[in-house]
Amino acid sequence: MNQNQLHAGHVALVTGAAGGIGQAVVRRLAAGGASVALVDADARVEGVAKQLKGEFPDVDLRGYATDITDTEKVRQLARSVEDDFGRLDSVALVAGVVQTAAPIAQLGRAEWDRVLGVNLTGPYEMTHALSPLLARDGGGSITAVSSWWGRSGHAYFAAYCAAKAGLIVFVQAVAAELAPTVRVNTICPGNINTRMHQEALRSEAEERGVSYEDIKASEWAKIPLGKAGEPEDIAEAIYFLSSPAASYITGASLDVNGGVVFH
Ligand SMILES: NC(=O)c1ccc[n+]([C@@H]2O[C@H](COP(=O)([O-])OP(=O)(O)OC[C@H]3O[C@@H](n4cnc5c(N)ncnc54)[C@H](O)[C@@H]3O)[C@@H](O)[C@H]2O)c1
Repeated sequence: MNQNQLHAGHVALVTGAAGGIGQAVVRRLAAGGASVALVDADARVEGVAKQLKGEFPDVDLRGYATDITDTEKVRQLARSVEDDFGRLDSVALVAGVVQTAAPIAQLGRAEWDRVLGVNLTGPYEMTHALSPLLARDGGGSITAVSSWWGRSGHAYFAAYCAAKAGLIVFVQAVAAELAPTVRVNTICPGNINTRMHQEALRSEAEERGVSYEDIKASEWAKIPLGKAGEPEDIAEAIYFLSSPAASYITGASLDVNGGVVFH
């Protein structure tokens, strides 16, 4: 078997599956032959699953409208995935929210809790609930999506940067615990051209009192590869980390960022 191929019958779970990067991840895994549980707080995820089923009729794709910060709902989700698919081989933790840009003196507790909740507590809930199923089924992997803003701080986004930095070290701790059975890694995207990226640019432009076009030009000019990435760039990296080709990689943080920050 080609190391880059998933095992026959691979079952994946993807959070944030109604979003820009999440949908690309589902497409890449389905193209590689995986059946996928699509999870998102947005109820549109069920429609996304149906639509993708039209593109990939040979694999099982099912949508689950679930808030990953809700302990009881996540517990139910784990039971449903086990009942519906019978096994689990990989988990991609893609769901996230960007914060509204604000200086620290104006960053209120509600926004802090919302951003930490989805970006850090959500991955904890999912890992807590799903790692026993992954371990039972002989291994597999978890790949969490952090950010280049988890590698270094960015003004007006303290909550988001703190959550994404926390996620990198959370993953290292869990990787050490779950080895050698389950591999756990993070991807750190740079600027990826999705609704979330546009929302962050708009929010920062407002905070700095400049236009959206100006802030976009100045942010993109900092990227050595000269442009924002596409969701497919992140999907390819998640596919790789979920495949046997990455069988000796755990606790790693993979930058997929056009060189915008080097580590
Ligand atoms: N777009 C970028 O430039 C960029 C850069 C670095 C990191 N990221 C990270 O990549 C991931 C995906 O981002 P995207 O650009 O596709 O954003 P997106 O807004 O298109 O998708 C995020 C998805 O997460 C879902 N979600 C939000 N809260 C949830 C919750 N509580 N439970 C379940 N689902 C929830 C949303 O409904 C949405 O569908 C995020 O973790 C983000 O922080 C994005």
